[in-house]
Amino acid sequence: MARNKHRVLFLCLGNICRSPLAEGVFRREVERRGLSHELLIDSAGTSSWHVGEAPDERGQAVARRNGVDISMQRSRKLRESDFLEFDWIVAMDPSNADAARRRKPGGTTARVVEFVDYVPGDPPHEVPDPYYGGPGGFDTVFALLERGAGPLLDAVLADGS
Ligand code: 4NP
Repeated sequence: MARNKHRVLFLCLGNICRSPLAEGVFRREVERRGLSHELLIDSAGTSSWHVGEAPDERGQAVARRNGVDISMQRSRKLRESDFLEFDWIVAMDPSNADAARRRKPGGTTARVVEFVDYVPGDPPHEVPDPYYGGPGGFDTVFALLERGAGPLLDAVLADGS
């Protein structure tokens, strides 16, 4: 089978809060535009702390309320092959972007970017980590992801790779 035309990996620390939601929201945007066959979408964490776990229940709940099902996702750690298999690695905050850039093997082509750079208007400097807060933090994250998903998809499509 031909490779997907565009390959996008969302990245956070644990891959149980922010990047699973980013994957779900972005996938919904791609489906709405009828482009599912053109994109490979996944998410990962820079840590192995929650490998194999389903997304945080609070995130699953926010997603479900908004018609997005992320319950089938399982946490995995960022691996070297991701830098070959994905064109875009979209980090949720500067610290995880830096971690990815440090781990990027020489000669690989993935570009590491930060999600907030695609959010129009006056975005916060990162997608805030909701892990230690109340459920409201997940609503904030979801709303921010919704603001940036369309513009990010526009940029991916314009990339022409
Ligand atoms: P995430 O959130 O990086 O958005 O998945 C976190 C999940 C777990 C932890 C921290 C942040 N933790 O400390 O275990």
